[in-house]
Amino acid sequence: MYGEYIKKVAALGGGKAMIITFGCQQNEADSDKLRGMLASMGYIPTECREEADIIVLNTCAVREHAELRVFGILGALKALKRKNPSLVIAVCGCMVQQAHIADDISRKYDQVDIIFGTHSREKFPQMLYEVLSGRKVEKDLSENEKDLGEDIPVVRKNKFSALVTIMYGCNNFCTYCIVPYVRGRERSRKSDNIISEITALVADGCKEIMLLGQNVNSYGKDIEGECNFATLLRRVNAIPGDFLIRFMSSHPKDITNEVIDAMAECEKVERHLHLPVQCGSDRLLKIMNRRYTCDAYEKIIAYAREKMPDLSVTSDIIIGFPGETDEDFEQTVDLLKRVKFDSVYTFIYSRRKGTPAYSMDNQVPQAIKGERMDTLMQVQNEISKEKNKALEGTVQRVLVEGVSKNDDTVMCAHTSGAKTVNFKCDKSLIGQFVKVKITEAKTFSLTGKII
Ligand code: SAH
Ligand code: SF4
Ligand code: F3S
Repeated sequence: MYGEYIKKVAALGGGKAMIITFGCQQNEADSDKLRGMLASMGYIPTECREEADIIVLNTCAVREHAELRVFGILGALKALKRKNPSLVIAVCGCMVQQAHIADDISRKYDQVDIIFGTHSREKFPQMLYEVLSGRKVEKDLSENEKDLGEDIPVVRKNKFSALVTIMYGCNNFCTYCIVPYVRGRERSRKSDNIISEITALVADGCKEIMLLGQNVNSYGKDIEGECNFATLLRRVNAIPGDFLIRFMSSHPKDITNEVIDAMAECEKVERHLHLPVQCGSDRLLKIMNRRYTCDAYEKIIAYAREKMPDLSVTSDIIIGFPGETDEDFEQTVDLLKRVKFDSVYTFIYSRRKGTPAYSMDNQVPQAIKGERMDTLMQVQNEISKEKNKALEGTVQRVLVEGVSKNDDTVMCAHTSGAKTVNFKCDKSLIGQFVKVKITEAKTFSLTGKII
């Protein structure tokens, strides 16, 4: 049925399509599928709103800020649609999987033609066909946990680096987080499908594979007889070819020594572990439903560093979770000082409707959250700088990704530990491995010289 609508839309002549993606890499990977479907329907990509015949917003709901940005763009698109009434506007992804938001959008934003949730990607061609045929379509938020979209074509933005989703959904229900509500339960892809996809990518010249899941450490648990994440890593590593393997995210309660051993033994797996701790207070970790203690967390890190002395460790921290006291916060600062992460993503707690923490009555005032954020960043910035300094003079083999944001004679790449490094080199080396000597360490990046 889905293939039939691809053909029907393609027969209408195609056009230009723009996809705007918010949120995490899982959403980016979903956008690769939207790009694939649009390409099969005869649409060529554009980065210019005025030029587009269809604009798809693939949205995120993890924090309020992400949602406000979507509402902002929807407002701006109203004027564009007035100028170009044949423009089709579609909104999909995590934000609209929440029924109250989808209702709001269909009520207040009549410039939006199509709304579909995270489980209904394969309905997109049919919905688009209906709209192009002049009919109004209903939103589709149905929850289909069976179809993993294996048949949907994927078109990636670049040839040498690929996001590969290994599992969808999340079972963890951390009390602050909306993801399990908008992404459904954990569904792993079959390892054979993952291996064939990566084998084909590598044969096609891909040099970097990022394995994705909200909690990759529970990969395979939902399929009887399927391998676990450690074995999957080893199997991906065994695919012939010169390429790198990264993965995210890991949950501290599920990561095992077996996974760390596999990381250490697989030469293609990069020396980076992103292991979100969220906070340094055992009391709050319990209320967050994280199901580990700081002590258990630090033991994992110690084991990983023992196995891989050059490992880079990064984390996520939430500031201002309901009921966070000065003492809880101090414990988070102390944890940062003890663990010495290479870098940390700090997020101010954002109330998400439908989650348990939303209705906790001890919300932390905004001003206090702001102060704590500043303190935490100051502490972490010093640690990051010190960690980066240790790399000065070392030689790193990196994949040249593209031109840096500020200067198009400067290229950027990431070290094995996922640190940004900028260096001068010819654009023709984009997509190739080079060796770079680190000449200067800054807080958020490194500068290097190609050797
Ligand atoms: N599944 C991943 C994280 C996905 S969301 C994991 O568990 O590691 C990415 C990060 O967003 C989380 O680690 C958390 O730090 C942050 N986050 C999630 N919900 C949030 C909220 N309501 N407010 C602020 N930050 C949040
Ligand atoms: Fe959210 Fe927790 Fe699942 Fe991560 S593990 S997506 S933080 S519920
Ligand atoms: Fe956002 Fe959905 Fe990812 S809520 S962080 S886009 S899973």
